[in-house]
Amino acid sequence: MTKTVLVIFGTRPEAIKLFPLVHALGADARFRVVTCVSAQHRGMLDQVLAIAGITPEHDLDLMKPDQTLDGLTAALLTGLGKVMDAESPDWVVVQGDTATAMSGALAAYYRKLPVCHVEAGLRSHDIYQPWPEEVNRKIIGTIAALHCAPTETSAAALRAENVAADTIHVTGNTVIDALQWVSARIEAEPGLASGLAELEARFAGKRIIGVTSHRRENFGGGLENIAEAIRRIAARPDVALIFPVHPNPNVRKVMDAALAGLPNVAMIEPLDYPHFARLIAISEIMLTDSGGVQEEAPALGKPVLVMRETTERPEGVVAGTAKLVGTDADTIVTEIFTLLDDKAAYSAMARAHNPFGDGQTARRIVELLGNAS
Ligand code: UD1
Ligand code: UDP
Repeated sequence: MTKTVLVIFGTRPEAIKLFPLVHALGADARFRVVTCVSAQHRGMLDQVLAIAGITPEHDLDLMKPDQTLDGLTAALLTGLGKVMDAESPDWVVVQGDTATAMSGALAAYYRKLPVCHVEAGLRSHDIYQPWPEEVNRKIIGTIAALHCAPTETSAAALRAENVAADTIHVTGNTVIDALQWVSARIEAEPGLASGLAELEARFAGKRIIGVTSHRRENFGGGLENIAEAIRRIAARPDVALIFPVHPNPNVRKVMDAALAGLPNVAMIEPLDYPHFARLIAISEIMLTDSGGVQEEAPALGKPVLVMRETTERPEGVVAGTAKLVGTDADTIVTEIFTLLDDKAAYSAMARAHNPFGDGQTARRIVELLGNAS
């Protein structure tokens, strides 16, 4: 008998980290895979669906401009519950810690459906950093029947919360599957990532820093500091910053006000996944508050400076390929200048290091779902 697996996601990073699993489940006759997107994100989600070739069976189209957490969560619970009632899945899969993932797990729990949590056990141990993700993933961790932890560190965090040990499996992180898949696609078809050529020509001879920033806990202060740091870094004539700006209006208004018109800063629209992989490849340093970029940059051998006070992904920091720099402008500028000017400091951080998986994570999760009752 085939098992129906309902895979739920709604944002760019969830789509990136779940498309390898959707592909792997779809290629296995033991499963009927049904994808449901909340479309908590719209344009940024559709970019990933297009490159991954996924047409969701259900699309709730929930994104609203500058949406609130409570309005979004209410709509998610109702919408996802209806899809579960229509599909009667054997398993519900959610990834990470977004509002979509938490609501998907909760709606499944209300129906006593088993939940498989991909990227389980990440913990900062501070409920406001990242906010609201730390609590979202703790809620999912309470509900899930199958916990796919990317590393031994995340598995240990779950055991410390008394999650039953036989439900926790160290699978790696599907982000590495996704990165390997997209890298192979770009190699076969370089045109998929050639759209930065004009920018690369404009900044020829300069040292590129790739930037992303979107964290909700940085709204009201933190983002202004980050913008100020970028302005000061961009004053160096040997440097150029390429910054695909998150479409959240709270991010855009701060960055536009502080950075528009600076010759060494390219504020651009969000890149699709092949082009973002290309941006990491041409960057000397990644400066980010993103979760996923903390995993991808070390995998590609690029130092990553993380604009957070704490991280639920300590593996890169422990290995020395990632560094927490917070959101203080002076600190960010000092740390970037050290990497630019101190060759030893740079080469200590710039080595390929991959604690997050071997690219076989989706296959492992498929086997776990296949063997689960
Ligand atoms: C969400 C997740 C966060 C994740 C991030 C990845 C929650 C609570 N937050 O945060 O965990 O790290 O996605 O990017 O689940 N917007 C667009 N187009 C898009 C996407 C967003 O215009 O394609 C704008 C909309 O105005 C939207 C706003 O961004 O209301 C915020 O989107 P939302 O998903 O609520 O929060 P993020 O900050 O993106
Ligand atoms: N990313 C992308 N285009 C961009 C910026 C990021 O494809 O312009 C990818 C990046 O490679 C990573 C993911 O989006 O896989 C990270 O998403 P985001 O920073 O929005 O969320 P987080 O990981 O912080 O939850």
